[in-house]
Amino acid sequence: MIRAQDLTIAYDNETVLDKVSFLIETGDLVFITGKSGSGKSSLLRAIFGELLVQSGLLNVSGVEITKAKKGKIKKLRRHIGVVFQDYQLIKEWTIEKNIAMPLMIGSYSKKTIDTQVNSLLNHIKLAHKAHRLPEELSGGEQQRVGVARALSHSPNLILADEPTGNLDEYSSEMVMNLFKSINELGKTVVIVTHKMPSNLGVKFRHFHIDRGGIHEIY
Ligand SMILES: Nc1ncnc2c1ncn2[C@@H]1O[C@H](COP(=O)(O)OP(=O)(O)OP(=O)(O)O)[C@@H](O)[C@H]1O
Ligand SMILES: [Mg+2]
Repeated sequence: MIRAQDLTIAYDNETVLDKVSFLIETGDLVFITGKSGSGKSSLLRAIFGELLVQSGLLNVSGVEITKAKKGKIKKLRRHIGVVFQDYQLIKEWTIEKNIAMPLMIGSYSKKTIDTQVNSLLNHIKLAHKAHRLPEELSGGEQQRVGVARALSHSPNLILADEPTGNLDEYSSEMVMNLFKSINELGKTVVIVTHKMPSNLGVKFRHFHIDRGGIHEIY
């Protein structure tokens, strides 16, 4: 599903990841940890084709990101769900419409969109706020909307950057359970987190980024 080979990610004068190699298989549930500034978000952005990598190879769902043209990356993204560290909800749109966005892009029928959005709104316990705007929600509520939006078009790969960063224990568990159930459907889920969840009760992998390297922790 995701294969990195001697992948180097660097900004102007700073190498963030230095020739890292790893393989994430289809259906894996992966947690990525590392200190602030270690390169977690950069790695997710590279996998999403949003960041130019310096050298090496990065294959995502059979697409070689480092060589792919814009059109190919756009197509690939239709099968990826992303939760951004800063939510990136559309301010002028209701919660309901924000969650529906990936489905609208995919031209799904209104019936499918309604069913899927309602189910997700119930999952994240925000059905009663469906018609509110993001600014009328708390940070944690917005984050849950961001998670629901990432999942709405049933992507094969989910990339989540600190999806529980602003959540209390109860909401974190709600979101983790949502990811778990998606993973149980065979979807690949990659979650960047500061805090490893405890008692997850399912098989998962743990990668740690440190000083430009990425190591799997067993
Ligand atoms: N657009 C950019 N231009 C230049 N440097 C950047 C850019 N984005 C990130 N960096 C630098 O790259 C390093 C890794 O950043 P990144 O956001 O990937 O870290 P992170 O592990 O996600 O940190 P955090 O836990 O704080 O979110 C940091 O030192 C950061 O300053
Ligand atoms: Mg980050």
